[in-house]
Amino acid sequence: MAKITKLDDIVSLCKRRGFIFQSSEIYGGLASCYDYGPLGVELKNNVKKAWWKAVVQMRDDVVGLDSSILMHPLIWKASGHADKFADLIAECKKCNTRTRVDHLKEKTNQSAEEHTEHIAINSAIAGAQDLSNKVCPNCGSVGTFTEPMPFKLMFETRMGANIDDSMTLYLRPETAQGIFANFANVLDSTRVKIPFGIAQIGKSFRNEVTTKAFIFRTREFEQAELEFFCEPGTDEKWYEHWKEARFNWYIDLGLNKQNLRFREHDTNELAHYAKSCVDIEYRFPFGSGDWQELEGVANRTDYDLRQHQRGMRTLNSWYENNGDLTKIELKEEADNYEKGPLSYFDNEKKKRYIPYVIEPSAGIDRSTLAFLVDAYDEEEVRGEKRNLLKFHPVLAPVKVAIFPLVKRDGMPDIAHNIANDLKKYFNCFYDEKGAVGRRYRRQDEAGTPFCITVDGQTLEDKTVTVRDRDSMDQIRISTDQLRNHLREKLDV
Ligand code: GAP
Repeated sequence: MAKITKLDDIVSLCKRRGFIFQSSEIYGGLASCYDYGPLGVELKNNVKKAWWKAVVQMRDDVVGLDSSILMHPLIWKASGHADKFADLIAECKKCNTRTRVDHLKEKTNQSAEEHTEHIAINSAIAGAQDLSNKVCPNCGSVGTFTEPMPFKLMFETRMGANIDDSMTLYLRPETAQGIFANFANVLDSTRVKIPFGIAQIGKSFRNEVTTKAFIFRTREFEQAELEFFCEPGTDEKWYEHWKEARFNWYIDLGLNKQNLRFREHDTNELAHYAKSCVDIEYRFPFGSGDWQELEGVANRTDYDLRQHQRGMRTLNSWYENNGDLTKIELKEEADNYEKGPLSYFDNEKKKRYIPYVIEPSAGIDRSTLAFLVDAYDEEEVRGEKRNLLKFHPVLAPVKVAIFPLVKRDGMPDIAHNIANDLKKYFNCFYDEKGAVGRRYRRQDEAGTPFCITVDGQTLEDKTVTVRDRDSMDQIRISTDQLRNHLREKLDV
C-alpha cells in the first residue's frame, strides 16, 4: 500500500507547490482535465525541450512540424479512426456505469490486464466476451453487464457559422495524422531523403471511458510523435533502432532503469495500423501490477500513406454526401498505388515506393508523471522530514535559487545581481524570506538542483556557498566562477 500513498503524496505536493491543479477547480473541477501551474509548466516544457533536442535537434535525419488540431474529416476516415477508434464498453444494469470491457476484473482475480491504451476494436469483439464473472468497479455487482458495445473516442465539434456550410470536425486523437497529411509538403519543400522522420509535439483529445491516476490518462493530453519514413525491408532495422533510442532517452533523463521495461504486443492487441508494436512501460505506483505504458513504438508499415491516397480519391464522394462520413466508403486503392501522390522516388536507386513508417509515440503528460514519481523522495534529516524531487538538472523547473543570508549589509543587492546575471542562461529564483534552512527545504521540494547563499564571507572575499540538492553538501565558489561552474553542472 505504501506505493499508493506515494501517488497521493505526489498529487498533494503538485497542488501545494503549484505543479498541477485540477482544471476548473473553482467550479468544482472538470474530470480528467488538468492545469499546469508555474512549476509544472516549466517541468513540462523541459520534458518537451528534451524530447525535441534528442529527436530533432541532435539528428540530421529528422525535421519538425506543428500541424493544426482541426483537420479535414476525411483524414479520420482514411486513417481508420472514424470507424475503428472505439473502446468496447459494457454497462452495469444495476448502477448504469459504463466500463471498458478490457478493464473489467474477474470476481476471483481482481487483477485484470490494463496494458493497452486502446484495443483494436475488431480484435476486441472477436475475443472472448464472457462477462458473467466480471465485477462492476462502481457498485461491485457481478455479471450484471449488458452486451459489449463500441464507444467512439473522438470528440466532435462543428466548424462554421452558417448552418448550410458548417461541418462536423473532430479534435485529433493523435498528432500522427497531421504528419502523414504533410508528408508530400515536407518532401517538396525540403531536401529530406529517405530514411528521414517528421516530428511533432501537440495536444490530442480522446473521450476516454476510464480516466485514471491523476495525469496518467486524461481526455486532453499532449503527445510527442515521430513518424520515421524508411524503405520497405529496412523497417525492422529502424524499429529496433527507435526502440533502443527511446528507451535510453528516459534513462538518460534520470529514470531508474529498474522501473522501465519493454513489452511487445501480442498480435490480438495490435492497433489496426500496426505490424508490430512495443510499449516502453514504467512501474507507476498504481493500478494492477504497476507496469503501465509510457510510450509505444510501432511499425505502421505503409498503411497510413496508402490509406490517405485512398482518402484523396474519395474526396468527390465526400462532397456528394455533404461531408457525412457515415455515408461514404473509401475508394479502392488505385492499381498503380505505389506510384501515387504520396509515394517517394529514390533518385539513386531509381525506384518509386510508398515508404514504411516507424512511429515512437510518447505522452508528454505521462512522462512528466513518470519523472515526478521517479524523482520523488522523502528523507529524515536531523529528526525532520525532507521532501525532495531529484529531477535531472535538464528537467528541473528552477535550476538555481539565490538567497541573501540576511536582509542587510548589502547582501540582497549582491544576490539580486547574481540572479540577474544567471537568469540569462537558465531559470532562477530569488528568495529572501524566512530562515535559510526553510528556504533550502522549499527548493528541495521544487526539485531545484542548486541553492546559492550570499553571506558575511561574501562581503570579504566575493565567494558564495553553492549547496547541492541531493547530497546537501556545500562548497564555496568565487562569484566570477559561478556562471561557468553552474552551466557545466547543469548541462545548459
Ligand atoms: N499515434 C499512436 C498513438 O497515439 P497511443 O498508444 O494511443 O498511440 C501514444 O498513444 C502515447 O500517448 C501513449 O503511450 C501515452 O503516453 C499517450 N496517451 C495516449 N492516450 C492518453 C491519455 N488519454 N492521456 C494521457 N496520455 C495518453
